Amino acid sequence: MEKMWAGRFQKALDKKADDFNSSIRFDCRMYAQDIRGSIAHAKMLGSVGILSSEDVELIIKNLQEIKSDLDSGKLVFDNNAEDIHMFVEGELTKRIGDAGKRLHTSRSRNDQVAVDIRLYLRDEAEEILSLIKETMAAIVDKAEESVDIIAPGYTHLQRAQPISFGHQLMAYAMMLKRDIGRIQDAVARMNEESPLGSCALAGTTYAIDRQMTAEALGFSGASANSIDGVSDRDFCLELMSAFSLLMMHLSRLSEELILWSSWEFKFIDLDDSYTTGSSIMPQKKNPDMAELIRGKTGRVYGNLMGLLTTLKGLPLAYNKDMQEDKEAIFDSIDTVKMCLEVLAPMLATMKVNGENTYRAAQKGFINATDLADYLVKKGMPFRSAYKIVGTIVAECIEKDCVLDNFPLTEYQKHSALFAEDLYNEISLETCVSKRLSEGGASPASVRVQIAKIREFLKD
Ligand code: ARG
Repeated sequence: MEKMWAGRFQKALDKKADDFNSSIRFDCRMYAQDIRGSIAHAKMLGSVGILSSEDVELIIKNLQEIKSDLDSGKLVFDNNAEDIHMFVEGELTKRIGDAGKRLHTSRSRNDQVAVDIRLYLRDEAEEILSLIKETMAAIVDKAEESVDIIAPGYTHLQRAQPISFGHQLMAYAMMLKRDIGRIQDAVARMNEESPLGSCALAGTTYAIDRQMTAEALGFSGASANSIDGVSDRDFCLELMSAFSLLMMHLSRLSEELILWSSWEFKFIDLDDSYTTGSSIMPQKKNPDMAELIRGKTGRVYGNLMGLLTTLKGLPLAYNKDMQEDKEAIFDSIDTVKMCLEVLAPMLATMKVNGENTYRAAQKGFINATDLADYLVKKGMPFRSAYKIVGTIVAECIEKDCVLDNFPLTEYQKHSALFAEDLYNEISLETCVSKRLSEGGASPASVRVQIAKIREFLKD
């Protein structure tokens, strides 16, 4: 296929070099955005008198037809095209001749691609935001079911203090809420400046109206520097950073699901529809989906590092290296979406084994802090109480008992402040229900968190 830029060349491009150069295989997914951008550009050219209204009408009508032909599959991408921008323009010219050839007046693929990716990412970010919200809703529902389930909370993966299991789940809802904020911030900044009209790098001598295209495409204004307009990919990196943080959160949750579903914990059962068997061990039920989410986090980080590295040495303005932005961010988008689409229903269908979490909470002296607090409330300084309880724990380990069945007479050998009421104070139910401090682990506090997140999810 003859290149649009063939004029200055005496030889055709080598076949391998041509394939190497082409981005149509992956940038074809931006066709709707490319056409949206071209329609805005054509209208603007008409309104400032660069194109006749007949040409503008013809261009718009045919671009719309190309869009619907691509939607329906009537028109297929030509893999010999250099990229989606050349393909659409070529197809338009095939259909309407000279009018199609006029569309690229006062525009370059450099500003065209910069606007297309932004439009594309804006659409995808919207979808990702709603998938995150679905995942949050699944977390909140599961937390609500688990409000009264007592479980050990951990530090250093050692049983630490008793909590409502819903409290641990809600921690993830808080992370996802921040992820939403980060993505929204990145999108808001991306929508500030339209690069369209930056042209190749230096703007143009035509009297174009950049505000008009910016407004038509949903930007607040036009880029203030045409070189920056065509060479900025910060918005890709910002979104990829936000996606990396999001994946880090999904990965931590996945890691917990993997641990919790093991026989060592058995805090949860994942539904059969989100687990797999082994080809050799008949008893196995593996948490593959959670493992894949954890595993795929690596590639989302990798995409971010890859693009950061690609961009770091580039002189201004556009360089073909920048074509590498697309596969990286597309892969991150696909990965994030796939992970969220599987995680939300996996959470919704998992069963929490309250008996097992309770049994785990009974071991490990996780009410020791509460026993120290018991002495503190009776007037003893915290450090002294801490020391006494430490000694009692050591005795319990030796005698193979727990704080709950250590005899009062033994307690009283350590301090006269101990009385019968201590047993109620250190029961798991009391320990959890009394953690009423704001944001604490009590069921009452978890209910407050649930209400807050439900409110957030409403808009
Ligand atoms: N396919 C190219 C990209 O993705 C479009 C811009 C090409 N511009 C150029 N001057 N070769 O970056």
